[in-house]
Amino acid sequence: MKVLMVCLGNICRSPLAEGILRTKAQEKGLEIKVDSCGTANYHQGEAPDSRSIQVAKENGIDISQLQGRQFTVSDFQKFDHILAMDEKNLSDLIKLAPNEESRKKLELILNYHPNLQSSNVKDPYYGNIQDFENVYQQLSDACEGFINTVLKSK
Ligand code: 4NP
Repeated sequence: MKVLMVCLGNICRSPLAEGILRTKAQEKGLEIKVDSCGTANYHQGEAPDSRSIQVAKENGIDISQLQGRQFTVSDFQKFDHILAMDEKNLSDLIKLAPNEESRKKLELILNYHPNLQSSNVKDPYYGNIQDFENVYQQLSDACEGFINTVLKSK
């Protein structure tokens, strides 16, 4: 199973989602590959935002070595599930999907959250550390939901 987390810049939300899902899967002994990327190329090759690194570290997860990259159409072949952080990311990805099979891989990550279905993981880039902590909690709950509904049914 291969999962790709997608946001806009690949420095705030999706690197956190990548680290959280990888860690939870490892803890549960589940076979999974996780990656993340951005719909934009603004932060190609850069480390995650220092606030995402900090919030992850406070929760025992090291994302400091991750590097930003942009989504490419070939990712549709490489991944089984492509999870978008918000509806803008999702609509940008839908425009790039070459066929229905690719389209079906796309979902909002919060569809796996116990009570925030159909909502967006709000971009925390211009926010404060509390906004990053809220993002962390939403993603942690959503990743737990993803594991319970998708991975455990395999
Ligand atoms: P992300 O946040 O999509 O969660 O990584 C952002 C990071 C950078 C920018 C926007 C959003 N930016 O405009 O540079």
